[in-house]
Amino acid sequence: MSAPLGGQVAVVTGAASPIGKAIARRLVDDGAKVVLADVDEAALAAFAASLGDDAPWLAGDLSLEPTAVALMDLAKRRFGHLDILVNNAGGGVILPFLKHTPETLRRTLDRNIWTCLWCCRAALPLMIEQNYGRIVSIGADSVRNGLADHAAYNAAKGGVHGLTTGLAREFAGYDITVNTVAPCMVMTPMVAAAMEARNPLIDKFLAVIPKGRPAACDEVASMTAYLASRDAAFVTGQVISVNGGSTML
Ligand SMILES: NC(=O)c1ccc[n+]([C@@H]2O[C@H](COP(=O)([O-])OP(=O)(O)OC[C@H]3O[C@@H](n4cnc5c(N)ncnc54)[C@H](O)[C@@H]3O)[C@@H](O)[C@H]2O)c1
Repeated sequence: MSAPLGGQVAVVTGAASPIGKAIARRLVDDGAKVVLADVDEAALAAFAASLGDDAPWLAGDLSLEPTAVALMDLAKRRFGHLDILVNNAGGGVILPFLKHTPETLRRTLDRNIWTCLWCCRAALPLMIEQNYGRIVSIGADSVRNGLADHAAYNAAKGGVHGLTTGLAREFAGYDITVNTVAPCMVMTPMVAAAMEARNPLIDKFLAVIPKGRPAACDEVASMTAYLASRDAAFVTGQVISVNGGSTML
């Protein structure tokens, strides 16, 4: 059987993060070439090297338009086309709303919504030109269940969810699909450390998940890979939770 993403080129942002790495590895396993980006240069370079010689990367702040444009240019120059964009850059500044400062609010929005907006804007012209594209963003199930201390983060990730439906409608005619994967708590090293330290917030986060555990990074990656595939041609404008049941329907 041929690889589901054979011959395709995918940009993965936030590729130095645990979920980003799992997604990039899964796309490579499915046959795609990947182009990686993150603001954390050292971690990104180390991860790219672990994938071999053929994973170009760009370190920079994707909340700034020129970085997003340079990233898509890199994909086009290196491989000639861009089929898949995974907007995974993000990350929470998880605080009670009134404990936020202007700086943490801005950082939350920069990381989660501006990265996604600029990358979509830079990638779409290439996808329109080739009449094909798959955009998958990583949102958050906390937008749907109003998880404790997530208001500002949810404002940013809610923007990602909202962008999904609008772009899906606008670009459906070019065989471009736009979807979001919304995880609940995911078992990253940071979550594992908080569980180990018995951080009381963890119990609150787990209490809303009927399956009683965080998602594995690979469980987020497998949904992302499906939405990035040709098989998902008729799935667009969806926010699909990977959440152990923390919200239903
Ligand atoms: N871990 C969870 O429980 C969880 C739950 C729901 C959603 N998410 C989302 O999943 C994604 C991956 O999260 P994670 O937990 O693996 O690690 P993370 O939150 O550390 O990942 C974010 C990555 O994005 C990069 N990044 C942030 N701002 C950037 C910018 N301006 N330009 C370029 N890169 C930037 C960071 O350096 C980091 O590598 C994030 O979007 C996060 O919000 C995570």
